[in-house]
Amino acid sequence: MALNCVIFGPPGSGKGTQAEGVCRKYGLEHLSTGDVLREAIRRKTPLGLKADELISEGHLVPDDVVDGIVRNRIVPLIEAGKGILLDGFPRTVEQAHFLDDILEEMNARLDVVAVLEIESQELVKRICGRRLCSKDTEHGPYNVNFMPPKVPGICDDCGSDLFQRPDDNEQALEERMEIYRQQTLPILEHYREKEVLIKVAGSGTVSEVRDCLLSEISSKTGS
Ligand code: AP5
Ligand code: MG
Repeated sequence: MALNCVIFGPPGSGKGTQAEGVCRKYGLEHLSTGDVLREAIRRKTPLGLKADELISEGHLVPDDVVDGIVRNRIVPLIEAGKGILLDGFPRTVEQAHFLDDILEEMNARLDVVAVLEIESQELVKRICGRRLCSKDTEHGPYNVNFMPPKVPGICDDCGSDLFQRPDDNEQALEERMEIYRQQTLPILEHYREKEVLIKVAGSGTVSEVRDCLLSEISSKTGS
């Protein structure tokens, strides 16, 4: 049966970077709520106009808005028998309850919540050095400090320009970390009770973290 997973961790912990390996191994569909919101901002849709300032300043987008995005994306996937990897959702206890409700309605369940653990002082270089492909959210992410592209400012995969997220600066990161501690971390208690949590050291190299993550998922799910 298809797996349904959440990849969880503070800003810059490597959720987007690690999503690719997990999705490839288990054939999952990656849903990053941050990527969906940034795409809406790029296209200047009503959702994008609403989210733009909130995201740039590091605040959360309201629960009902994000819940709607997630419902619209995951219901058809689960109906089609696909597994999902949620990245950046849930981010509040209310969102976690919303996810429980959808999965219950669909007769599906959450198999794993994988937490990437990393000290906050390591995150500044990751966040401030990050560069993203302007064409495809699944390319990269790159990092001028750790994983630079072959040609500065250009995506290795498709040759498009790279850009820096407006919330990737020290001031917005401080706000994002505060929200993570206050509103997002309490979700873990909910998942501890459900016995779906696994913890992975997020501070090694990308391949070290990937090996550990895949091995923990495999032990937890037996697949
Ligand atoms: P979102 O896009 O989800 O941002 P985030 O949670 O802050 O996480 P990031 O994407 O910054 O980090 P990541 O863990 O994916 O790290 P990455 O792999 O890129 O959300 C953005 C905003 O949207 C929110 O602040 C909020 O406003 C809104 N939003 C989204 N979801 C919402 C929700 N559910 N509810 C309400 N609002 C919501 O890696 C970071 C960098 O480090 C990269 O450059 C990478 O190359 C590098 N790196 C990764 N791994 C390593 C490693 N092992 N060693 C060295 N460098 C590494
Ligand atoms: Mg991300």
